[in-house]
Amino acid sequence: MSRPKVLLTRRIPSSALATLEAACDVDRNEGDPLSPDGLMRRIRGKQGIVCLLTDAITAEVMDAGSELKVISNVAVGYNNIDVPAARQRGITVTNTPDVLTDATADLTWALIMDITRRVSEGDRLVRRGAWKGWALDFMVGNGLRGKTLGIVGFGRIGRAVASRAEAFGMNVAYSDVFATPGSGAIPIDRLLATSDIVSIHCPLTPETTHLINQASLARMKRSAYLINTSRGPVVDEKALAWALKNGIISGAALDVYEEEPAVHPDLLTLENVVLAPHLGSATTETRTAMADLAVRNVIAVLTGQPPITPVP
Ligand code: GLV
Repeated sequence: MSRPKVLLTRRIPSSALATLEAACDVDRNEGDPLSPDGLMRRIRGKQGIVCLLTDAITAEVMDAGSELKVISNVAVGYNNIDVPAARQRGITVTNTPDVLTDATADLTWALIMDITRRVSEGDRLVRRGAWKGWALDFMVGNGLRGKTLGIVGFGRIGRAVASRAEAFGMNVAYSDVFATPGSGAIPIDRLLATSDIVSIHCPLTPETTHLINQASLARMKRSAYLINTSRGPVVDEKALAWALKNGIISGAALDVYEEEPAVHPDLLTLENVVLAPHLGSATTETRTAMADLAVRNVIAVLTGQPPITPVP
């Protein structure tokens, strides 16, 4: 029986690659991300693809890969894949939930600490030689104890962020479109108006695109901070730059952007925003676990087993 053929769009850790190569014939792209044309060319004749969130897997790409049975995303978010188009074509789509929950929640807290205690801002100041020494009123930030952390999207990562809040003495509020009545969720407008820190953890969908816009930012406290480790387009970056420039909110910390790797130019000039380069899951342990899970998903489907973590 011939071995299944799989396209691997980017380098993955060697242990996961070895597992994949033991079970499948792998066409490895080792260089820059594949262009849409490159993807369509290389997907021909493949039954599986292991791809990253930077690969747009459109209906056109799926049609170029007419033998495709499984699309395995090395990410928990899957907005880069046209899932309805995959369903119509009988193609299974899988992602990598759970294994990156802690890493992303930890990074969220790194950003909360950074923006409220001005760590990156202070780092920039020290490097440009502008530090004149300790003073009682120098670069004071804001404490967390007794404040409210508002979580938008109370899935795995949102809950993991919430579970760390107790250690900092914070109260937690959350809103979630999937919450059932009586579950404790509050309407997002109330959450925005009452939280000291608003942290975004919902998936990117047509409904959540620009969920945080000029009107929602204007609802927040002037002393509040916005954190986004979900997907860039959930926040209207232009509106955020306006809010940060005009004191509508106090600060923001972002790990994700509308047009990665581009960042809205106004944000680059502001001191009251921390800009991380999409590092949510970036630990060696987590990236290895994500690649292992993605590879196990593709092998499962191509050997007639159920996928381990199909997208819902
Ligand atoms: C990272 O952003 C992911 O969705 O896994």
